[in-house]
Amino acid sequence: MTGPDPAFLATAVEIVLRAGEIQLSRRESGFHVEKKGAIDLVTEVDLECERVCRALIAERFPSHDILAEEMSRPGDRSSSRYRWVFDPLDGTTNYAHGLPIFCASLALEIDGRAEVGAIYDPTRRELFTGERGVGAFLNGVPLRVSSTATLLDSLLVTGFPYDVHKHTADLVEMFGAFLGTARAVRRLGSAALDLCYVAAGRFEGFWEQHLHPWDVAAGALIAEEAGGRVTGMDGSHFDPAAAHLVASNGHVHDAMLGVIRDVRERAPNRTN
Ligand code: IPD
Ligand code: CA
Ligand code: CA
Repeated sequence: MTGPDPAFLATAVEIVLRAGEIQLSRRESGFHVEKKGAIDLVTEVDLECERVCRALIAERFPSHDILAEEMSRPGDRSSSRYRWVFDPLDGTTNYAHGLPIFCASLALEIDGRAEVGAIYDPTRRELFTGERGVGAFLNGVPLRVSSTATLLDSLLVTGFPYDVHKHTADLVEMFGAFLGTARAVRRLGSAALDLCYVAAGRFEGFWEQHLHPWDVAAGALIAEEAGGRVTGMDGSHFDPAAAHLVASNGHVHDAMLGVIRDVRERAPNRTN
């Protein structure tokens, strides 16, 4: 099967590698941090990485659209068949605190579906890539999800949204339900890397809600191309705009959806 134009992946890789260089060098030189909300941060580095991405796409593919976290506006409409979806720094809270778990994530959607994705973790020098119908790779080596078949043998991961203070009890209840069924549950602070780690077989499954397309567009493609399954938390067809997802190795997917369903049935008015 033939994949998308190789220039797309080459551009995605170039941009996330460039973002990684900026992230590492600015970590040494220092950077300014601002609050977008009570606990939601943005650094100069987020903005600088996004500017680099926008400039390169505009130069190479001037007719393409860009949806990126820091400078796109909610009402921005896509007028092109091609839309680049960019998170200039996924794991901003970690980055601002000096915790080395962060990355840049870039996907190209064609006709509304991610076809190419690249995610780069500069501290580990791990470049995750995916192309629909071609596969998923870590530094060029093919990736495969784990073969673990039960939740009891699974290492899971999740994340919490920036409005966590409003939904703390519900989020903790869901977390507790998985904690009571899995081997262990982690919270790394980068949804894009969470998805890559499902692809790499490091985690069996990941769930999160209140996400944005830039958090998941590239990672969901990489997880799927590594043989994983990605759906909404209600088992619906995965939609990056729908803000919630479950990604897994496929084998534990229905069990994860069952845990979520049980929690929701116990408290039908819950907010997650
Ligand atoms: C956040 C991270 C985090 C997830 C949040 C995201 P940011 O992205 O991916 O793991 O739990 O929901 O918003 O703000 O660091 O780009
Ligand atoms: Ca993000
Ligand atoms: Ca971000």
